[in-house]
Amino acid sequence: NTNKTLIKKLNDQGTLAHDELYQLLTAMDDSDAQYLYQLARVKREAVYGKDVYLRGLIEFSNYCKNDCRYCGIRASNDRAERYRLSAQEIIDCANTGYDLGFRTVVLQSGEDLSFSDDDICAIVSAIKAHHPDLAITLSIGEKEKESYQKYFEAGAERYLLRQETSNPDHYAYLHPASLSLAHRKQCLEDLKEIGYQVGCGIMVGSPHQTFDHIIEDLYYMKDFNPQMVGIGPFIAHKDTPFRNEPNGTLEDTLHLLGIIRLMLPHVLLPATTALGTIDPLGREKGILAGANVVMPNLSPRSVRRKYMLYDGKICTGEEAAKCHACMERRIAKTGYQVVPSRGDYR
Ligand code: SAM
Ligand code: FES
Repeated sequence: NTNKTLIKKLNDQGTLAHDELYQLLTAMDDSDAQYLYQLARVKREAVYGKDVYLRGLIEFSNYCKNDCRYCGIRASNDRAERYRLSAQEIIDCANTGYDLGFRTVVLQSGEDLSFSDDDICAIVSAIKAHHPDLAITLSIGEKEKESYQKYFEAGAERYLLRQETSNPDHYAYLHPASLSLAHRKQCLEDLKEIGYQVGCGIMVGSPHQTFDHIIEDLYYMKDFNPQMVGIGPFIAHKDTPFRNEPNGTLEDTLHLLGIIRLMLPHVLLPATTALGTIDPLGREKGILAGANVVMPNLSPRSVRRKYMLYDGKICTGEEAAKCHACMERRIAKTGYQVVPSRGDYR
């Protein structure tokens, strides 16, 4: 079977030619996919064993100055109920997370200009002062390099910024003219240069995405060599221009998780909430396809359903403690285990 030969070649060489990746992405059957996932698990276990790392996600503001066409909290969605947590509320969330056993928190928001650089730095340093062994990841969008530098000095060590797509025309289709792929990539370079562990990534199955785009994404990731890659299916939101577009699929997302694991064996790769949203066992299936991170929600329950990036988002009714316990149970069933460590890149 030529697909299995290609998967073995990807496993051994860490990359494939364009037409070979195209064949894998478009013509794998179930038995090919099982073979891919099996090799992906061997690769991830060689680096990270059976460990799965938890990141507690604190969604601290859904105000956003941008107008990304896929996103439920885009500026022009006047049906979104806006909220922002106070500095103290964010710090309290991090403390709750620490007490539950999290050793990484992710502070995520829309691009909310009411948080100044000093505000972000004050929050980061307050959390670090309480808990020096808690890793802080930021996911707050595109900033000046000087700003990234300040957050880093305040104690943030990791940054998530998906490029969303690596094709400039496709980027322009998904975003307003005020945003550019070139600037997004510049931010990723700046973050890496400063010394962050950096995460890039894409939505799978976003409108007008082709398999050729995905291959561009794979080559970009291989070349950029990030410490983290965040991928999840695109899911339509009813109050966006993409309301009638089809969602990305479970299969395509799982195939990509397996392929990315073979291309970047050391990468920290989450099985995302979006994956758990399109399939009730999506996150477990993601772990079995090569992912090694999950990101339970730590936001206060009162705001969770307001951080609605896409329709049907799961875990919007649960208390943080319940989500944490749920995730431990779910992962244990896969044969892997949640570990209470920072889960740094190896
Ligand atoms: N503002 C920051 C940024 O732009 O990186 C962080 C927040 S942003 C809402 C986080 C991620 O949500 C984006 O990178 C995007 O991939 C994802 N997202 C937004 N809308 C989505 C949708 N409709 N379906 C799936 N993922 C979506
Ligand atoms: Fe949130 Fe299961 S992970 S309820």
